Amino acid sequence: MPLPDPPLPFTRILLAVVLLCLPPLAVIGAAAWLGWLPREVAALAASGLLLYYALLARRQARAIYDLRNFADELIGGDRPLPASARLGSPALRDLGYAIARLYRAKRDRNDEMMRLVQARDGVLDAVPDPVFALDRQGRILGANRAAMESFGAIIGRDATLLFRQPDIVAALNLVLSEREARTIATLSLAPPVEREFTVAVQRLQSVAPDGTCAVLTLHDVTALRRAEQTRVDFVANASHEIRTPLTTLLGFIETLQGPAKDDPQAHAMFLDIMQGEAQRMARLVEDLLSLSRIEQHEHEHPTTRVALGPLLERVVAGLQPQADQRRSTIKLTIEGAATVIGTADELVQLTQNLIVNALKYGKEGGLVTVTVTRKPAAPPAMPPPAFGAIAIAICDDGEGIPRAHLPRLTERFYRVDPARSKSQGGTGLGLAIVKHIINRHRGSLRIESDVGKGTCVYTYLPAAERD
Ligand SMILES: Nc1ncnc2c1ncn2[C@@H]1O[C@H](COP(=O)(O)OP(=O)(O)O)[C@@H](O)[C@H]1O
Ligand SMILES: [Mg+2]
Repeated sequence: MPLPDPPLPFTRILLAVVLLCLPPLAVIGAAAWLGWLPREVAALAASGLLLYYALLARRQARAIYDLRNFADELIGGDRPLPASARLGSPALRDLGYAIARLYRAKRDRNDEMMRLVQARDGVLDAVPDPVFALDRQGRILGANRAAMESFGAIIGRDATLLFRQPDIVAALNLVLSEREARTIATLSLAPPVEREFTVAVQRLQSVAPDGTCAVLTLHDVTALRRAEQTRVDFVANASHEIRTPLTTLLGFIETLQGPAKDDPQAHAMFLDIMQGEAQRMARLVEDLLSLSRIEQHEHEHPTTRVALGPLLERVVAGLQPQADQRRSTIKLTIEGAATVIGTADELVQLTQNLIVNALKYGKEGGLVTVTVTRKPAAPPAMPPPAFGAIAIAICDDGEGIPRAHLPRLTERFYRVDPARSKSQGGTGLGLAIVKHIINRHRGSLRIESDVGKGTCVYTYLPAAERD
């Protein structure tokens, strides 16, 4: 909005006119006094002169005042140069254009700054880790999207109150008090969230205009720590599993070399035990190798078609001696063509492991059912297959598994009853192998169990064709 016209200061204009007119007035006055000009003519000339200068001074004053208003108005946006400035002297017109250029340059700089700030915010929001800007007192002045999503409305809050853990408070204080340029600490969130972050606090080289003097970033290392822990546990468990039969073997070898050296009866008995232990070690090594082979190729998904009918008939036939030993029956039912996308060797291993479990942990003299059915809709846990899913249900009538154990059954070496598993020749790796094979096949696994009634393990695999 243009400002109202300011009144022109009349006394100042009058003074300027008098000052401007003084030299020619003095000349006219002297000429009249010396008698060179008649007094009337001199008076007329003096009046004309005063009038001319008054008009001139008024016009320049108008232009200057309009330029001042123009400069003020420019802040509100672009304005054309006022008409009075264009009509004023060329110097005043140039001054007007200079003011306009100055304004535009400043506006462009501001626009550029705004774009830079927006780009910086965009970059920070794209960072998946939470980032916080802190002032000298540790107050949070800004935060990116990840920080807001994880911690809610935190602007203005004290960072030391948000992350109360002593390590983080100490790391923050070291940087904010300028004793350190950068510190690292660890933040552990207690259950139920149970996450671990690496916290980095970095001092800025100079304090930003908004007062930001340090940046705090959080990096989620939960998955990394879990993977590390799993690896450490796995090495410890595998070593322990191998050492047990090995210690037994070494003990018997010593006995055979020493006290039982000449006892043929002991020889036969000990060799039997030693064979059993060696076979256990061999099974363990075989399962470990299988697991590592499948893991190596877990991200290469199978592309070949496998008909489950003939495959399962072979597997069941191969397990008949084991079923006979437990006086159990295996009943196989296959619906339709049951062709899946898979790797035959791995599907043999998968079904073998599950049927062996059903025989081992099922009732002696019981019934194990293996049922293959078509499922038009795949369970939500598996990536949607093009032609639906094929389900293999392997059920037994054993003691079942208490609910608390179900989520952990596919962990390596996890057993509900370790002594029973070992006495049955189990390695504790069967279900871990099954899970990895299913992952590779982009399928899904579900275990349902009723204590006292039995267990059903459902495997879903992507069908190779529409039925
Ligand atoms: N059908 C089942 N019925 C009852 N418990 C089972 C069944 N299948 C697996 N389990 C339990 O899950 C554990 C892990 O199975 P698995 O990984 O195949 O190892 P393993 O059979 O060598 O012990 C077993 O030790 C057993 O406690
Ligand atoms: Mg098993």
